[in-house]
Amino acid sequence: MKKLAAGNWKMNGTMAALAEVSALLEAHPDPACEMLLCPPATLIAAMAAQARGTALKVGAQDCHPRPKGAHTGDISVPLLRDAGATHVIVGHSERRTDHGETDALVRAKAEAVVDGGLTAIVCIGETEAERDSGKTLAVIGTQLDGSIPGGATATNLVVAYEPVWAIGTGRTPMPSEIAEVHGFLRGRLRGLIGGEAEKVRILYGGSVKPSNAADIFAIPHVDGALVGGASLKAADFGAIVAAL
Ligand code: G3P
Repeated sequence: MKKLAAGNWKMNGTMAALAEVSALLEAHPDPACEMLLCPPATLIAAMAAQARGTALKVGAQDCHPRPKGAHTGDISVPLLRDAGATHVIVGHSERRTDHGETDALVRAKAEAVVDGGLTAIVCIGETEAERDSGKTLAVIGTQLDGSIPGGATATNLVVAYEPVWAIGTGRTPMPSEIAEVHGFLRGRLRGLIGGEAEKVRILYGGSVKPSNAADIFAIPHVDGALVGGASLKAADFGAIVAAL
């Protein structure tokens, strides 16, 4: 499995931002890693059209657990696939916080992604208070157990470890702390899905930028990154892609 550089644009990006995608593709037409951008839903179809025939894949930031129905304002996996998405982020801490998403709901969404033939990027991570009270591994272990979809494989599942306190703050855990968590997650995955766990990409997310990417990617069991702010600019995201 290639490493994965995934960008999460969150609630940013108008049509004008697609110029950054053109610049990214021009600078990195053939990256060594897999390259994915998850723009807001309003840009998925346009970005997917732009990415057709290139190394860039396009994903979504959320989905509804059901494939269709009377759910005003929601977007299903079949609709995302139709728009050109290949991946869907589920369980991002901002959704867990802003929308009260539970592990059970995250799992239902991840299963909808897998059933729809796309790849789920399942996010987990501890808060600062949980880390300070020594609960990091217990918290993320519970989130992993409760959130990953049935029938998970290295093709349809990516796990993203995003410590909540590192998101958008410029702070990152020590390399030894990232190593501890990623090693723990690999072992936990083995218990959940067996040998397939060796190939599941485990991404680190939280204040990844060009200046720290190479050091983070050198940590064992870090198979890529889920990048927020630094994915909005082609030069920054390109430098992270090049570091993988
Ligand atoms: O999903 C990516 C994210 O939460 C990390 O954001 O801005 O700290 O890279 P950022």
